[in-house]
Amino acid sequence: MSIWTPVAMLTDLSESTGKMVEIDGLEIALFKEGETVYALDNECPHRQGPISEGELNDGIVTCPWHAWDINAVTGEVVYNPRLKSKTYPCKIMDGVIFLEIPDGDQEATCVVKKDDEFDAAIQSG
Ligand code: FES
Repeated sequence: MSIWTPVAMLTDLSESTGKMVEIDGLEIALFKEGETVYALDNECPHRQGPISEGELNDGIVTCPWHAWDINAVTGEVVYNPRLKSKTYPCKIMDGVIFLEIPDGDQEATCVVKKDDEFDAAIQSG
């Protein structure tokens, strides 16, 4: 079971720079690149650096502490995919960013859905 939770307005995000949001004790880094929003744990899998203070380029977030590169969709560290950040499914509806916050430790990937795609997903169950 999971819940779609509104976390920020799309206008709160700047291109390629992060924003940290806190939901139920989880710290999550949001990034926007063009029409796509990414959401991943704010703690770097290396030494818990603040991912939201990193930079996003071409879907890769660079940690501000030691410059590890993390794939913003899969959460995998680029040079060592066994190390991974948790990522969260996102949707944008009427300019509001929603994240799907799972109960427990379910795996999630970031799939950005625009309003019409989300409506179709809701209608199909
Ligand atoms: S804490 Fe992120 S690269 Fe070291």
